[in-house]
Amino acid sequence: MSSKKVAIIGSGNWGSAIARIIGSTTKSNPNIFDSNVSMWVHEEIIDGKKLSEIINTTHENVKYLPGKKLPENIFAVTDVVETCKDADILVFVIPHQFVTRVSNLLKGKIKQDSIAISLIKGLSTSKSDGIKLVSTEIKEILNIDVAVLMGANLAPEVANDNYCEATIGIRKKQENGAMLKKLFHTNNFRINVVEDIEATELCGALKNIVACAAGFSDGLGYGDNTKAAIIRLGMMEIIRFVNQYYPGAHLSTFFESCGLADLVTTCYGGRNRRVCEAYVKFMDTKSLAEIEKEILKGQSAQGPLTAEEVVELLKKSDSQSKYPLFVAVNKICKKELKPQDLINELRNHPEHM
Ligand code: NAD
Ligand code: 13P
Repeated sequence: MSSKKVAIIGSGNWGSAIARIIGSTTKSNPNIFDSNVSMWVHEEIIDGKKLSEIINTTHENVKYLPGKKLPENIFAVTDVVETCKDADILVFVIPHQFVTRVSNLLKGKIKQDSIAISLIKGLSTSKSDGIKLVSTEIKEILNIDVAVLMGANLAPEVANDNYCEATIGIRKKQENGAMLKKLFHTNNFRINVVEDIEATELCGALKNIVACAAGFSDGLGYGDNTKAAIIRLGMMEIIRFVNQYYPGAHLSTFFESCGLADLVTTCYGGRNRRVCEAYVKFMDTKSLAEIEKEILKGQSAQGPLTAEEVVELLKKSDSQSKYPLFVAVNKICKKELKPQDLINELRNHPEHM
């Protein structure tokens, strides 16, 4: 059996951190993987030089993961079709707002028997098709099997090789779980595989909304008890959402790294939290987009957009009242509600009735 070629679609903060892992696991498993890994770079110019060329000469993504070397078997490629043309495993790791466009560029241009794994935390929306799981969007456009990897994985800490866990979600009886585990599992990045793809993916997507609420709470100086309540109520809304839209999830999935653990790490150390904390302080003079740009310098906070998408979906079934936290985050991001009113909305939570 020939070794599998891997392509990474994306090279942001998480894309670059995961490239360090994939560079290492492909090299140490030559019977399973081809160690030459292509990584798609959305080209940009940094101090007069192309980012792709900087990566291929210095082996560092100086913009999105400065100070960390990428393995030399990771090759930056600026054409996404070229990146993926011989690949057997496509690792999607781009901000969710770009997934439809990028997948369409790949349509009909990839190996028919390739598989994908999405590390993207968010939902997919299109004017014609409405809101979907990112994994469903990729599967429908490319007609290939798609798994997901989610977890408590702040990219800078993963890039420091600090011990953590992640969850791979696959469909029931989907093959390839063991091979995908080999691609990501290391001494300090411990993988569990669960046959519960939708719940795994939705935990990853929805926790970004909860992290925004945690950021508002931090900006208002409310302390750790309030944040713990936000995490718990957020968890209950995530479970409720999964049961409403994708019934049949295993309760145990919510206690995997993709669930409770990711909520905790994101609500304490994530970018969504940071941006929303600053929003409370500067919202009178700056827009959320301006604050995101200033603080994240090109990286993306996906919670506000996900909140908007989720509320659109809830409206269709008139379910907003069951999700006060998700709804309040959306309203605060759109300046329809003051951050100070978040707690008032939570007082009427169905969990307290
Ligand atoms: P990021 O937030 O660093 O975003 C920047 C990336 O977006 C860059 O690679 C940039 O080139 C790319 N980009 C900008 N404009 C683009 C365009 N028009 N088309 C395509 N790409 C464009 O990205 P990230 O941190 O790698 O996040 C990717 C996904 O991984 C997200 O869904 C995120 O939620 C998830 N994730 C992130 C982390 C983390 O700690 N950063 C951890 C786990 C999961
Ligand atoms: P942020 O995008 O809020 O930084 O969260 C990163 C993450 O998903 C950690 O698991």
